[in-house]
Amino acid sequence: MKQKIRFDGVTREFHTRLQTIVAVKDYSMEITEGEFVSILGASGCGKSTLIRMLDGIIAPSAGNIYIDGEPVNGRGGMPPALRRKVGFIFQQPNLLPWYSVRENVALPLRILGLKGKEWEDRVDTLLAMVGLEKYADASPAEISGGMLQRVGVIRALVHNPEILLMDEPFGALDELYREQLDMELLQIWQKTGQTIIFITHNIEEAVLMSSRIFVMGTHPGRLVDTVDIGLPRPRSLDMITQDDFTGYCRRITGLIGKLDLSKIK
Ligand SMILES: Nc1ncnc2c1ncn2[C@@H]1O[C@H](COP(=O)(O)OP(=O)(O)O)[C@@H](O)[C@H]1O
Ligand SMILES: [Mg+2]
Repeated sequence: MKQKIRFDGVTREFHTRLQTIVAVKDYSMEITEGEFVSILGASGCGKSTLIRMLDGIIAPSAGNIYIDGEPVNGRGGMPPALRRKVGFIFQQPNLLPWYSVRENVALPLRILGLKGKEWEDRVDTLLAMVGLEKYADASPAEISGGMLQRVGVIRALVHNPEILLMDEPFGALDELYREQLDMELLQIWQKTGQTIIFITHNIEEAVLMSSRIFVMGTHPGRLVDTVDIGLPRPRSLDMITQDDFTGYCRRITGLIGKLDLSKIK
């Protein structure tokens, strides 16, 4: 099994006028190619900071991050060859309002200079995959919140990245809709075999989706434990009530502890 991502003793501090915040302290993890892992923890434990460092948006204060053995945080920012390997889905889809749905999905292709019929066809294939082909020419203001989120997902997939980073992607949606999109995401993953890092503060969601969960604690943000989820695939929503599922949730609840749980609920 090929190692895809490695964090090696990563620390990130933020200096404000009054204090230094240690957002992430001495964080190490390894992720194998094709894995679906979650990073789970209370609000403020450094989840977004971790994933933004992996995407090269911010640099670690100490330690190193590698994709395919290459350092992400080299001088001059993220190397272009690595940039192409990563897709990022944010909590808010952040679509450009003056672009159509299709133009929004195609934006990463323009940024990365990927041209030609093959890529244009890919945009249409992805729109069809999430049932949005009829809305290709609509503007973002004309479609629902769930549709906007789907556009955000396929925009992150359009350049065929090997790694997908998702920062609480469906957290702003109501629960039923979120669960539906979670299941769609698992189906996409099953087809594409990408490496996915999924960030959430929802224990059930993490157990439902992941093969492995990195559980974080706060003050300072740090890795508390790693939990392997041995539930069979494909996963389905009716697993949530089964004993082995609730057993995992109880174990993780114990790891996170009462203090942080109050920030999750
Ligand atoms: N740009 C920043 N400047 C100062 N503090 C920050 C900045 N970004 C994050 N932090 C702080 O770092 C900690 C971790 O934040 P974050 O990674 O956003 O947590 P999470 O995503 O788990 O909610 C928090 O205390 C947050 O206030
Ligand atoms: Mg966050």
